[in-house]
Amino acid sequence: MEVERALKSDADDLAYLIDIAGEGMPQYLWSQLAEPGQAALEIGASRAGREEGGFSYRNALVCRDRGSVLGMIVAYRLPNPYVVGELNEYPEIVRPLIQLEALAPGTLYINAVATYDAARGQGVARMLMLEAQEMGQLQGCTEASLIVASANKRARHLYLQLGYQDIDSRPIIEYPGCPYGGDWVLMKKDLAG
Ligand SMILES: CC(C)(COP(=O)(O)OP(=O)(O)OC[C@H]1O[C@@H](n2cnc3c(N)ncnc32)[C@H](O)[C@@H]1OP(=O)(O)O)[C@@H](O)C(=O)NCCC(=O)NCCS
Repeated sequence: MEVERALKSDADDLAYLIDIAGEGMPQYLWSQLAEPGQAALEIGASRAGREEGGFSYRNALVCRDRGSVLGMIVAYRLPNPYVVGELNEYPEIVRPLIQLEALAPGTLYINAVATYDAARGQGVARMLMLEAQEMGQLQGCTEASLIVASANKRARHLYLQLGYQDIDSRPIIEYPGCPYGGDWVLMKKDLAG
């Protein structure tokens, strides 16, 4: 198993895993952009294959075993200052996430982390998180941040073990396919030292 920068050719894996990490919200949002007959994941893959934007493969690391992707992480530095602008211009379900992101300007933001079902429990996500944090430090980030659903026990456990702490939360606004009620929780970790 090794962690390396994602390639453009990983876009299908990235879209699938970004959707899992985003609790189905990405697929719902992509479905709004799809042409009739076009699959939402196709939109996701084309976004992951772009050179720009948060979901770009350029912001992703993958864990590979003999060529196959086992898991991925998407992480990048949030702008500082983080200017929200007109919140009403974002889809309603995204607004709580934007409000929480705005509380973490300049941090290394772990936007998505996910491991394929068959590869879980083998340390893949932990390796990806540690590697992303190291890259963040090299880019001069002194803190890392992420947002997780309060009911996502497995992910919460991983983040707490890695030293992330709860900072703030907003109620989840439910969307089709949303697996949880509860809150979105912003967690942060000091990367210095
Ligand atoms: C959360 C997730 C990324 C963990 O990935 P993973 O590669 O299995 O994680 P790791 O093997 O690195 O394990 C790290 C920790 O996760 C937890 N974990 C992993 N597999 C688990 C399992 N089967 N049951 C319970 N906890 C588990 C444990 O805390 C584990 O640490 P420990 O065994 O040392 O106590 C994975 O379950 C996943 O992809 N879930 C769906 C997407 C998701 O929820 N992403 C996060 C959204 S914010």
